[in-house]
Amino acid sequence: MSERTPEEQDALVDRISADSLTTRRDYLRIVATVSGGLAVGSTLVSAGVLHRHGDGAADPLKVADLLPKGRAVTFNYPGEEDRAMAIRLDDGTLVGYSTVCTHLACGVLWRDDHAEEDGLYCPCHEGVFNARTGEVTAGPPPRPLPKVIMVEDAVGAVWAVGTARSGESEEAGLCRGLVSRNPGLADRAGCGRQR
Ligand code: FES
Repeated sequence: MSERTPEEQDALVDRISADSLTTRRDYLRIVATVSGGLAVGSTLVSAGVLHRHGDGAADPLKVADLLPKGRAVTFNYPGEEDRAMAIRLDDGTLVGYSTVCTHLACGVLWRDDHAEEDGLYCPCHEGVFNARTGEVTAGPPPRPLPKVIMVEDAVGAVWAVGTARSGESEEAGLCRGLVSRNPGLADRAGCGRQR
């Protein structure tokens, strides 16, 4: 994936915001601090795109008013049965994952007393995942944990805004839903550059 400069990202946000047919509301101010330097997610959320049914991934869900470093919060996303977790790593990075183990679907737990390399643990068969990447670091799980795409808004609240399949990048996950439903917007958001 090619990196966009800050100037290019700003121009992208401006273009999409100008094109957006929605009026700006509180949730449209969600911007800026995004997990993993995610440009497309912040762009789409700031443009209000992800909130509209059919335009992108699942509707944004606020999961915490604040998430301090070294803490995690569990929630269900994108469906009511879909167990998920957001973690604020020690360096402030925000990450999110499905907590359904890719081995036999047991619940994956956050271990705040472990290094991030083995911070996520499945007790059923001792599966271990890297808390920063979701990659498997030990045990029988065959695939990384699917990601839940997290963003932080201007007042520090934490939102889930979409999902990515196991091994898929966050931007690719957002774009996958958008390309099929709103190709024009996907193009303006730079989704063509993600593939
Ligand atoms: S179900 Fe998680 S390691 Fe087996």
